[in-house]
Amino acid sequence: MKILRHPDAVREEVMQWRCHGQQVGFVPTMGYWHAGHVSLLDAARQRCSKVVASIFVNPTQFGPNEDLERYPRNLENDLALAQAHGVDLVFCPQAQDMYTPDHDTWVEVPHLSQGLCGASRPGHFRGVATVVTKLFWIVQPHVAFFGEKDWQQLAVIRAMVRHLSCPVEIVGCPTVREPDGLAMSSRNVYLTAEERAQAPALFAMLQNLRQRVAGGERNVDALKGAGLRYLAEHLPLGRLDYLEIVHPDTLVPRTQVEPPTLAAVALFLGKARLIDNLCIG
Ligand code: PAF
Repeated sequence: MKILRHPDAVREEVMQWRCHGQQVGFVPTMGYWHAGHVSLLDAARQRCSKVVASIFVNPTQFGPNEDLERYPRNLENDLALAQAHGVDLVFCPQAQDMYTPDHDTWVEVPHLSQGLCGASRPGHFRGVATVVTKLFWIVQPHVAFFGEKDWQQLAVIRAMVRHLSCPVEIVGCPTVREPDGLAMSSRNVYLTAEERAQAPALFAMLQNLRQRVAGGERNVDALKGAGLRYLAEHLPLGRLDYLEIVHPDTLVPRTQVEPPTLAAVALFLGKARLIDNLCIG
């Protein structure tokens, strides 16, 4: 397994592979890997003859009051997992090699970025779309793998690739969960024991909404009301950011549940901000 820091070195290596007809799969990450990241590596390994993973805590997707400085990092463990899961190349760039001091070119997908997480994290998806575009230019993969937990991010990246005629196939992979249902996230490490005990209620609430839809409920306001009551009862330490019921591709809010419909939620819990989503109709 190669570990490369400089974009030019990665480009050169991948160019060689591509010249020899290899199919290159790419898993972009910010590190501090858990089983969710590993599932992306495994999906890439299964599908492609070469696998590249990147580890870069991208400063441009963090707001001024967010957790850029304290974002969890454990490069040694990530590299051990990369080795164990058959990654061929890990790209660990430094910020100065990703962004020149005069960086002033941005990739924006404004409509898909404005609601849900975009409403409370202005500029976040602009940072994500920009860094993913840059990573695609550097790594030049055939296929790239992203988790469905970050549903809005996946929608933004799919649109960005379509709009810019980017020759990369985007594959969404299912959310990996703890045995009690909590979606895996690097930020779960911020939770105290008491917060961690309440956190599974976020997914339980989404499942509860799905059951209500299965039982015939179609009214979005009624569902949202039920979701808020569920959280107030089972997750009192949390502070809701949003609970929305939307079309999964356009992210436009629904007024009535009709297939396909996605429920998406974000909630502040102590130092963490948890997100989750579930197809409910
Ligand atoms: O999902 C993430 O870890 C990040 O947003 C990504 C896609 C690696 C871009 O920095």
